[in-house]
Amino acid sequence: MSSATKTQVGIIGGGPSGLLLSQLLHLRGIETIVLEKHSREYVLGRIRAGVLEHGFAALMREAQAGDRMDREGQIHEGFYIAHDGIRQRVDLKALTGGNTVIVYGQTELTRDLYEGRDRLGGVVIHNAEDVQPHDIDTSRPYVTYRQGDETARIDCNFVIGCDGFHGVSRQSIPKDGIRTFERVYPFGWLGVLSRARPVSPELIYAKHERGFALCSLRSPTLSRYYIQVPLTDTVDDWSDEQFFDELRRRLPGDVSEAMITGPSIEKSIAPLRSFVVEPMRYGNLFLAGDAAHIVPPTGARGLNSAASDIYYLYHALVDHYTKRDDSGLENYSRRALTRVWKGQRFSWWMTTLLHRFPDNSPFDQRLQETDLAYLFSSQRALASLAENYVGLPF
Ligand code: APR
Ligand code: PHB
Repeated sequence: MSSATKTQVGIIGGGPSGLLLSQLLHLRGIETIVLEKHSREYVLGRIRAGVLEHGFAALMREAQAGDRMDREGQIHEGFYIAHDGIRQRVDLKALTGGNTVIVYGQTELTRDLYEGRDRLGGVVIHNAEDVQPHDIDTSRPYVTYRQGDETARIDCNFVIGCDGFHGVSRQSIPKDGIRTFERVYPFGWLGVLSRARPVSPELIYAKHERGFALCSLRSPTLSRYYIQVPLTDTVDDWSDEQFFDELRRRLPGDVSEAMITGPSIEKSIAPLRSFVVEPMRYGNLFLAGDAAHIVPPTGARGLNSAASDIYYLYHALVDHYTKRDDSGLENYSRRALTRVWKGQRFSWWMTTLLHRFPDNSPFDQRLQETDLAYLFSSQRALASLAENYVGLPF
């Protein structure tokens, strides 16, 4: 062992969850060290969704990392659901008494958090290999990692697993210490990022007999489109032309006619999965974000559920260090899971409402159609959709 360092909170994972927690704690005088397996460039190279709840945006401002989000992010007061050749608008602002969402790419948000860490002199160790938490069920946990031939150790009071679905943190909990809940959907999303003017200033979620489609955006000149594809498909099966032809088929005539296409600058397929682990704490290891739960992207909950975990954990750790009050830490898993499951339910419902399920029976088909018909026939049903989409209270 070449070096040992001490800190208060050891964070595994330099994605949005780990960085946001590190920044918020730093501003309250609590020390952290973030260990990230990849380089900063690699982390910022990942294209991810970008619809932020108002609660998340407020946390970014509290973390002193919200300026560019407020400058360049787009406030969206509504979105559309397209089906049967028509588009119907969900007026989020009117249905929720004024709440809206911000469309701002996760990549940009993560970049802002890195710059926030730099400004405050935060410690983020990149290219940390073989990261491993130890003694997590004791009062003196520590994390080891390797950089090249150097091995190092970080002694801390708490270890936070913000290392995503494939991270080491959840894996380090004994099997009998946790329970997992999962649903895997029989399709994926083929996403394309294209330097072309978005077809609509607001998002369009489309239900079609050929499958789901989504028209989203990153800026007035950068479009983000998705179509539902079988899990057996690969990116090579889809030329840009084939992608845009299929996308147009799934959209109402006026939208597909207005669509301006451009070469794809990113193209990838993501499987759809719902996943939750319980509890989100094991000893002095706390899980947050994708390390503990995954949602299909249909409800735009992934990043926002991660943010509510961080909100609860941040306040719990501040109470621990400033007031020696551990009630927040003791209630973290219960509080986080209560909101996580509501995000799970909403994401599953949006996915079930808008996708084509190959094995759906005629009865299921009718239920799906009726769910959509009921939605646009009831202000209360629309209000329920809207309050979930803008973000339920923390
Ligand atoms: N050691 C150190 N870092 C690791 C390890 C490891 N063993 N395994 C993974 N990581 C890093 C990844 O490289 C990644 O940068 O942990 C980070 C996890 O980041 P995310 O996967 O983005 O998870 P999170 O920060 O919780 O953000 C959740 O990301 O995937 C989206 O839809 C999801 O929007 C949600 C958001
Ligand atoms: C995106 O912009 O990538 C996006 C937006 C909304 C979603 C999913 C993805 O529900």
